Amino acid sequence: MTGKTVLSSRVEMSEVMTPNDANFLGKVFGGKVLALLDLVAYAASSRFAGTICVTASVDRVDFHEPIEVGELVSCVGVVSYVGRTSLEVTIEVSAENVLKGSRRHTNTARVTMVALNEAGKPIEVPRLICETRDEKIRFLEGRLRREIRGVQRVEFDRIASTFREAEESVLDELLSQEKLLP
Ligand SMILES: CC(C)(COP(=O)(O)OP(=O)(O)OC[C@H]1O[C@@H](n2cnc3c(N)ncnc32)[C@H](O)[C@@H]1OP(=O)(O)O)[C@@H](O)C(=O)NCCC(=O)NCCS
Repeated sequence: MTGKTVLSSRVEMSEVMTPNDANFLGKVFGGKVLALLDLVAYAASSRFAGTICVTASVDRVDFHEPIEVGELVSCVGVVSYVGRTSLEVTIEVSAENVLKGSRRHTNTARVTMVALNEAGKPIEVPRLICETRDEKIRFLEGRLRREIRGVQRVEFDRIASTFREAEESVLDELLSQEKLLP
C-alpha cells in the first residue's frame, strides 16, 4: 500500500451561522458544530483513502465558549493518524466575527473514520507520510489515544461489571462515596 501526505487530505469548510442554527439561548447548537465536524471528517478521510469512509467514533469534544449567530465557522481537517482500515481526522474549529474581523479558536476535535470497500467491508488505507515535526507528533498522539482508549475500555468494563454483581447494600455504600477510583 503506497503512502499519502497529511497535506493531501486537508479539507477546509466554512459556513455562516444562521438563526436556524440557534438554540433556545440564541447561541449555536452543539449539534450544528458536530454535524460540520462529521462532514469535514468524511471529506478528509474519503479523499485520503480514495473510498467512502464512515464515522466510527468521535473523541471528546469540549465547547469552551458559545458561537454566535452571524459568525463564520471554519473547520480545517487533516488525517492525523492511520491504522489498518481506520483513520483519525483532527479538526480545528474557529469562529470569526465578520464585522469586527476577530477570529477565535473554539475547538479541536478528533473523529475516527473507517474506510469501506464496495461491499461495505473495512478496507486497508494508504499509510500516512508525516513530513513535519508536528505531523509526526500528531501521529504518535493518535496512536497513543487509540492505545489508551483500549486500556480505558477494559478497565471500565472490569469495574462496571462489579456493580452488576454487587448486593444493593454495596451499591448504597458506593453511592455514598465521593470517588470510585483509589
Ligand atoms: C465502523 C464499522 C465499519 C466498523 O466495522 P467492524 O466490523 O467493527 O470493523 P473491524 O472490527 O474490522 O474494525 C475496523 C477498524 O475500525 C476500528 N473501529 C471499529 N469500531 C471503532 C470505534 N467504535 N471507534 C474507533 N475505531 C473503531 C477498528 O479498530 C479497526 O481499525 P484498524 O483496521 O485501523 O485496526 C462498523 O461498526 C459500522 O459500519 N458502523 C456504523 C458506521 C456509521 O454508520 N456511522 C455513521 C453513524 S450515524
